[in-house]
Amino acid sequence: MKHATLEKNSILLLVCILIVVSIGGIVQIAPLFWIDSTIEKVQGMRPYTPLEQAGRDIYVREGCYTCHSQMVRTLRDEVERYGHYSLAAESMYDHPFQWGSKRTGPDLARVGGKYSDQWHVEHMIDPRAVVPESIMPGYPWLAARTVDAADVAERIKTLRAVGVPYTDEMIEKARTDLAAQADPESKAARELLQRYPKAKVAKFDGRPGGEVTELDAVIAYLQVLGTLVDFTSFDAAGPSLR
Ligand code: HEC
Repeated sequence: MKHATLEKNSILLLVCILIVVSIGGIVQIAPLFWIDSTIEKVQGMRPYTPLEQAGRDIYVREGCYTCHSQMVRTLRDEVERYGHYSLAAESMYDHPFQWGSKRTGPDLARVGGKYSDQWHVEHMIDPRAVVPESIMPGYPWLAARTVDAADVAERIKTLRAVGVPYTDEMIEKARTDLAAQADPESKAARELLQRYPKAKVAKFDGRPGGEVTELDAVIAYLQVLGTLVDFTSFDAAGPSLR
């Protein structure tokens, strides 16, 4: 009988619905205010080096995400094909993230270290040179364009504003670090490695001397993807790493 009163009085019904829905909302949302982070901490994650970040921006500019995702799902077929499923922490410094669901080409979240730099050079310039049946377009202009170093320093500053932990030193040295990563013989390259552990230093585009090209940047980026977390020591149960 009491329920009939409720059903016949639309305003009362509305108020009661709001109360019930808010309880559900609070139960779901409130705990998020008290836990430190929704991203579990893992060892090894660091911000991208200036050269990797420049490569990432070119990746976004060229629309590589229209064919490639960067998130290995927790499904057996994915893990067997690409490697360990992606962790939230692995994309915490990504602005914008590149998870995606469109896979005309393979997922790239763990492509780092899978091929040599030389393979990437040939593949980026003309994919069919190394994968005859490929339908990926070539990006030959990347080899001819120089990376704008001033732009990259500003970019890193902007990323810090949205929470990527770049230090003052990293921002100050951004231009030197950018050049150093493509110059293995330099002293600056050793300094770069102190700031950015595990960074790959190489003449990525294979052309000695000269300017740092966009091809250098894209390959530096591809080669770091999925390589920062050491999965031999990663425990999905977590606490030991905190
Ligand atoms: C029109 C869709 C398309 C676009 C756009 C595209 N790709 Fe691809 N990509 C593919 C396909 C298909 C393959 C698989 C065949 C091959 O290896 O070429 C592939 C393969 C790759 C691979 C090798 C992956 C592996 O595990 O074997 C890399 C690296 C790659 N693409 C990088 C890029 C980058 C960087 C860009 C942007 C500059 C890009 N792709 C843009 C379709 C695309």
